[in-house]
Amino acid sequence: MLYFLLGLLSIIALQSILFMQYYGRGYRINKKHMFFSVIFSLYMIYVIEFLHDKIIHMNTDLIMIMLLFIPVGMLMPMIYRRYRNFLLVMVYTVLMDILIFILQNLAVGRINLLVLLFSFVGVLFGFFAGTVLNRTFPEFRKSIILKKRKKKILFALYEIELVTICFAALFMMISMAENISGKNLNKKLKDTISYSHNGDDKRWNIYDSIYYADEDKYGRYESYAGKHPDMSVEEVVWRVDANLDKEFYDEEYTKYADADTDKPLLINKFNRVSEDFEPYRLIKIEGDYEATPETVSAYKRLIEDLEAEGMKIYVVSAYRSVAYQKRLHNYYLKSDEKEVVETYSARPGYSEHHTGRALDVSQVYNNLDAFEGSDEADWVYKNAYKYGFIVRYKASQTDVTGYIFEPWHIVYVGEEISRTMHDENIETLEEYVVKYIDHVKP
Ligand code: DAL
Ligand code: ZN
Repeated sequence: MLYFLLGLLSIIALQSILFMQYYGRGYRINKKHMFFSVIFSLYMIYVIEFLHDKIIHMNTDLIMIMLLFIPVGMLMPMIYRRYRNFLLVMVYTVLMDILIFILQNLAVGRINLLVLLFSFVGVLFGFFAGTVLNRTFPEFRKSIILKKRKKKILFALYEIELVTICFAALFMMISMAENISGKNLNKKLKDTISYSHNGDDKRWNIYDSIYYADEDKYGRYESYAGKHPDMSVEEVVWRVDANLDKEFYDEEYTKYADADTDKPLLINKFNRVSEDFEPYRLIKIEGDYEATPETVSAYKRLIEDLEAEGMKIYVVSAYRSVAYQKRLHNYYLKSDEKEVVETYSARPGYSEHHTGRALDVSQVYNNLDAFEGSDEADWVYKNAYKYGFIVRYKASQTDVTGYIFEPWHIVYVGEEISRTMHDENIETLEEYVVKYIDHVKP
């Protein structure tokens, strides 16, 4: 998001400077130039949008980066008559890349050469395509070339603009590079750099012995550990693996529940479902409330045992569609600040209730607040795991889940998981997923 804004601002700022210079020097703005500038700015904004909204959630493709840079390369032979100028722009680009290297290293603790390499190849391809286009359609080139008198200064301005475009585009690549680098494209190179970057090899070894530590996150572990000096190394590692060193909802770290699983396990502020997500099957649980069949049968066993002890609870909420959550969330937003609402109501798409496995229960029908401190709440807290449920938002885990204590919100995860969590003292699904799903325990 930061890079998106920076990129956008740099485009807007330089575009304005460019036009101001025209005025300052008493030139009339050339309509064609303006047209191309606007087209280019729009193109860049499209690129930015594209990167953030689409690619970030998909398997990023280096070929795509290359394609995005082709137009930048194409413009050069259209503007410049002599190839010397092309070399000049390449030199600028190299300088910009060096800057990008430094920024990337500062921002994410590592760099991704392939992104830069492919952007170069894109420029190169564009250049040759532009040259061919020039020769084939000389009229087209003439029509966009500016009048002789003004040529020098305008060419200089064009150069600035080209460099800006390269710069802004490469800026965007930083955030993407981090995304890509998680997919081990040039892992080896990165690791070498991260290691030498820190200069303290011994310190890294502490992570080597933790089976759920990922080599490409060593830099993040280090910086999180620095901010939490009292935290155990193990906790630092699983927390960073769960992206807790990032802001909640950070788009770059947000994953959509796998399209091919109809039973997403982890839904939280970094793991969401798509707008049209539906559980594979829903059946009635109580009243009009619906849940998945496994949830319903486990819940029946739970209330049977609870009722045998003379208590009673009701389902107050179960499956919720994304559309329903949107209405609910917006309703809360009418009376509370956004920051407050988000501590008790999930953004649409991010609610565990979408899975059909989460239930809100209370001993007083339709009154969740009455649940806290009741005998029923106590019983659920102690026994839910025996039926495959966990109390999802514990009082001690608000910084992990991002939600206040919700004693009433239980989620069905299956007995294997709930029992392991109970036996291993694992308090959140976030920690469990890092240790047992995303990594294989040796
Ligand atoms: N109350 C929980 C966090 C939800 O809205 O899903
Ligand atoms: Zn709930």
